[in-house]
Amino acid sequence: MQMKLLLWMVVMMVILPSSTVTASSNISLENCPQRCGDVSVPFPFGFGRPECAKNSTFLLECNQSSSLLYGNISINDISLEDGTITGLIGSAYQCYNSSAFLSNWSDASVMFNNLSSVISNNLSFIISPIHNNFVGLGCDTMAIMYNKEGRFGGGCNTFCYNVTEVRNDTSCSGFGCCQTSIPKDLNQLNISVFSRYNHKFVWNFNPCSYALVVANSFDISKINFLGYSTTAPMYPVVFEWVIGDQHGCQDYCGPNANCSYSDTGGGFRCSCKQGFIGNPYLPRGCQEI
Ligand SMILES: *[C@@H]1O[C@H](CO)[C@@H](O)[C@H](O)[C@H]1NC(C)=O
Ligand SMILES: *[C@@H]1O[C@H](CO)[C@@H](O)[C@H](O)[C@H]1NC(C)=O
Ligand SMILES: *[C@@H]1O[C@H](CO)[C@@H](O)[C@H](O)[C@H]1NC(C)=O
Ligand SMILES: *[C@@H]1O[C@H](CO)[C@@H](O)[C@H](O)[C@H]1NC(C)=O
Ligand SMILES: *[C@@H]1O[C@H](CO)[C@@H](O)[C@H](O)[C@H]1NC(C)=O
Ligand SMILES: *[C@@H]1O[C@H](CO)[C@@H](O)[C@H](O)[C@H]1NC(C)=O
Ligand SMILES: *[C@@H]1O[C@H](CO)[C@@H](O)[C@H](O)[C@H]1NC(C)=O
Ligand SMILES: *[C@@H]1O[C@H](CO)[C@@H](O)[C@H](O)[C@H]1NC(C)=O
Ligand SMILES: *[C@@H]1O[C@H](CO)[C@@H](O)[C@H](O)[C@H]1NC(C)=O
Ligand SMILES: *[C@@H]1O[C@H](CO)[C@@H](O)[C@H](O)[C@H]1NC(C)=O
Ligand SMILES: *[C@@H]1O[C@H](CO)[C@@H](O)[C@H](O)[C@H]1NC(C)=O
Ligand SMILES: *[C@@H]1O[C@H](CO)[C@@H](O)[C@H](O)[C@H]1NC(C)=O
Repeated sequence: MQMKLLLWMVVMMVILPSSTVTASSNISLENCPQRCGDVSVPFPFGFGRPECAKNSTFLLECNQSSSLLYGNISINDISLEDGTITGLIGSAYQCYNSSAFLSNWSDASVMFNNLSSVISNNLSFIISPIHNNFVGLGCDTMAIMYNKEGRFGGGCNTFCYNVTEVRNDTSCSGFGCCQTSIPKDLNQLNISVFSRYNHKFVWNFNPCSYALVVANSFDISKINFLGYSTTAPMYPVVFEWVIGDQHGCQDYCGPNANCSYSDTGGGFRCSCKQGFIGNPYLPRGCQEI
């Protein structure tokens, strides 16, 4: 008994100081909500009142305290360390009927919002080239991505004329799945998918083709692409965000924060200086450890 009590006291002594550290490191502005459902919402992002976000570019909405939204995009994750925000975006798909006619399809456009054409020169959000891949799924499939002007693009092809050749492991080996990297510095990417033989030779086990941009943390081997679909499936896509533009760093980061220019995003990223911890975007975010 004595021993247990002593042990408990030692544990409390270890826990107490660390819990005061976490209490002081708020991630949002004062009197602003810090999370929506499972998702933490650190400043410069915010929701609830317009003042809770840096400006309207970073203003989100919490739909019934459970689903975080940016416009009509559902948000899964926001990372201060990586400077990323992850949202669910629709894919492109084509499905054929048994006489090789296109029966259900849609192209897709991967962008963070429909404001992106307005902020296109400021590049506040780009489709992360390091955290996403472009993926084609199907057994008679040409997956294409191109920029919104249609001036450049890329893609990949995949075919497999026997279902036994489909590999549903994580390797995306070219049998039923192909992938390639995303071009840099884009805030919009259009995607389309085509089929060489209209799935004529594979229809009995694979009537559809898909093309998607997807976070490389997402296990694509979990996707069952063999069946018929009447809607475009949605997948997580990672966007990189920066703040500011031509002005100096001091205008954007809090004190005791380091500021760096991000070539990819065309703006600034903040991080707490060594010996400090917290949200570097807040006025008093970086606290001494
Ligand atoms: C963190 O938020 C709480 C509640 O809003 C507030 O009482 C506290 O002062 C905040 N801490 C800091 C360091 O801002
Ligand atoms: C996108 O456009 C729709 C329809 O025009 C609008 O309702 C929605 O608010 C817009 N989203 C954003 C983030 O502006
Ligand atoms: C927000 O929630 C309401 C009620 O649950 C729902 O009808 C609406 O579709 C949701 N909005 C979005 C954009 O998901
Ligand atoms: C959001 O709205 C845009 C424009 O209206 C539309 O193209 C897109 O499919 C919508 N996204 C979702 C997830 O509903
Ligand atoms: C496939 O679609 C075409 C065009 O809509 C239609 O003429 C044909 O009857 C359909 N085939 C079957 C088997 O449904
Ligand atoms: C899918 O195709 C069927 C049959 O052609 C059609 O009735 C239905 O409206 C289509 N659905 C969509 C979402 O296009
Ligand atoms: C970029 O941002 C600046 C300042 O925030 C703004 O004045 C300018 O209009 C923006 N550029 C575009 C193309 O939206
Ligand atoms: C890309 O998609 C947008 C809408 O999402 C459309 O306005 C634009 O014309 C498309 N670009 C091309 C080259 O098809
Ligand atoms: C598919 O491959 C299996 C195993 O190699 C073979 O037994 C089967 O006959 C093939 N099916 C077709 C339609 O070629
Ligand atoms: C691969 O797909 C086959 C057929 O759909 C299924 O039986 C098998 O369990 C899948 N394997 C894995 C590892 O998902
Ligand atoms: C919001 O702030 C960002 C970064 O500071 C800036 O690039 C953007 O133009 C601003 N947007 C609006 C609508 O003021
Ligand atoms: C702060 O920025 C400087 C210059 O960019 C860099 O060398 C240094 O490593 C950064 N320190 C931290 C803690 O990020």
